Amino acid sequence: MDNLIQFAYVVSAALFILGLKKLGSPATARRGNMISAIGMLVAVVAALLDQGIVEYQWIVAGILVGGAVGVAAARLVKMTSMPEMVALFNGFGGMASLLVGWAALSGGASTFTLVTIVLSILIGGMTFTGSLIAYGKLSETIGSGAVLFPGQQVVNSLIVAGIVGSAVMFCIEPSNHLWLYIVVALSLWFGIMAVIPIGGADMPVVISLLNSYSGLAACAAGFAVNNNILIVAGSLVGASGIILTQIMCKAMNRSLSNVLFSGFGSGKVETAKVEGEIKPISAEDAFYVLEAASSVAIVPGYGMAVAQAQHVVKELMEELEKNGAEVNFGIHPVAGRMPGHMNVLLAEADVPYDQLLEMDDINPRMETIDVCIVIGANDVVNPAAREVESSPIYGMPVINVDKARTVFVLKRSMASGFAGIENPLFYKDNTRMLFGDAKESISGLVREFGD
Ligand code: TAP
Repeated sequence: MDNLIQFAYVVSAALFILGLKKLGSPATARRGNMISAIGMLVAVVAALLDQGIVEYQWIVAGILVGGAVGVAAARLVKMTSMPEMVALFNGFGGMASLLVGWAALSGGASTFTLVTIVLSILIGGMTFTGSLIAYGKLSETIGSGAVLFPGQQVVNSLIVAGIVGSAVMFCIEPSNHLWLYIVVALSLWFGIMAVIPIGGADMPVVISLLNSYSGLAACAAGFAVNNNILIVAGSLVGASGIILTQIMCKAMNRSLSNVLFSGFGSGKVETAKVEGEIKPISAEDAFYVLEAASSVAIVPGYGMAVAQAQHVVKELMEELEKNGAEVNFGIHPVAGRMPGHMNVLLAEADVPYDQLLEMDDINPRMETIDVCIVIGANDVVNPAAREVESSPIYGMPVINVDKARTVFVLKRSMASGFAGIENPLFYKDNTRMLFGDAKESISGLVREFGD
């Protein structure tokens, strides 16, 4: 039996790695998710049998109850609420590691095990409360702004010192559980304190970081209960979470410490006034230009998600193609508010994957594009990132839509995007503003094609 269990662990580790590999491309991501889920099922069943404390009927009951919760969540949670759901999942993962670590205390433990117990409780606890705050900010059940107050760094430093001191005391004197209770309480408090100073719009980065922490907590819990597959799974989650965090920071040209400590996005940023004139255009006039275009690039952003315009965007794509134009999408890595936000929405509308081009693939073609349609994107197409050295987003890689022959920008007003800065794109000679809700504006264009 023992050999079989160890073999099941190796199989599930291989499935995790294969699943992660397939998650790297939109075309194979669903299959990757399924493979990883099967890997997790094998791992959980093997671990339960390994401990020899669970009867088969309980395992079956667990699969049924867990499966029902999973199906309900997958069906009921809206695509735009995915970040909130991931936040909650991370939080519960952290809490699970805290409880597993704590349970490992029963029965004498070596100093190494004590250290891993403390780590799983500490990281699991802060992941739990941090994720709850992230959930609250994203869902706006609590204020989404950055909460900053005088002496915040001092309070945080004192909490960390308290955690380290009590953890050391617990490892020296494990029979005195009071030290452990202090570690639990302070870790839960620290999770709250670490996330409140971060603005709601930076929550996707925070969630990805907390995801990494939940992996580390699981890894520590794996050492605490001496379970190899928990160590492997925890390490994979920890590593992939931190890689995703880095990718997001790089795409915003911001350091992780800037995201965590600057309160970015919580206020309006003052920048120099842009010279030039705004040139609005009607759907009818925009149609005449589009009708004559042979290459069109569509660059979506957060506004497409707000307007839920993905289905009409697909219709517009079909009309343009029927008219003989080549249509591609330019996808910026941090367009929207979560990683892969645009890919998920466009996949929902059945836009073919091979027409979704990454920023580095579409930028070199931009000068050959007749019309670039920017749909509710702002910061990710802001040429100030290239041209204005004093801009807070200077150096951020952007999609160079202003290099296309004509640019249509679809948004409701002259309001700024997430970074709160002016966008010189709107004033360029080749830019026309099609004001209105993105879904209505695009439906208007589709109607013009139909007439
Ligand atoms: P933003 O710069 O936030 O701009 C979105 C634009 O959409 C706004 O200017 C808004 O203008 C417009 N809009 C909103 N609702 C609309 C509607 N119903 N119809 C038409 N337009 C609408 O979006 P972006 O270009 O996608 O950039 C994303 C930003 O989020 C970046 O600054 C990025 O760094 C940040 N961020 C992203 C992530 C991830 S992982 N994606 C994580 C953290 C931060 P109006 O109000 O005038 O309509």
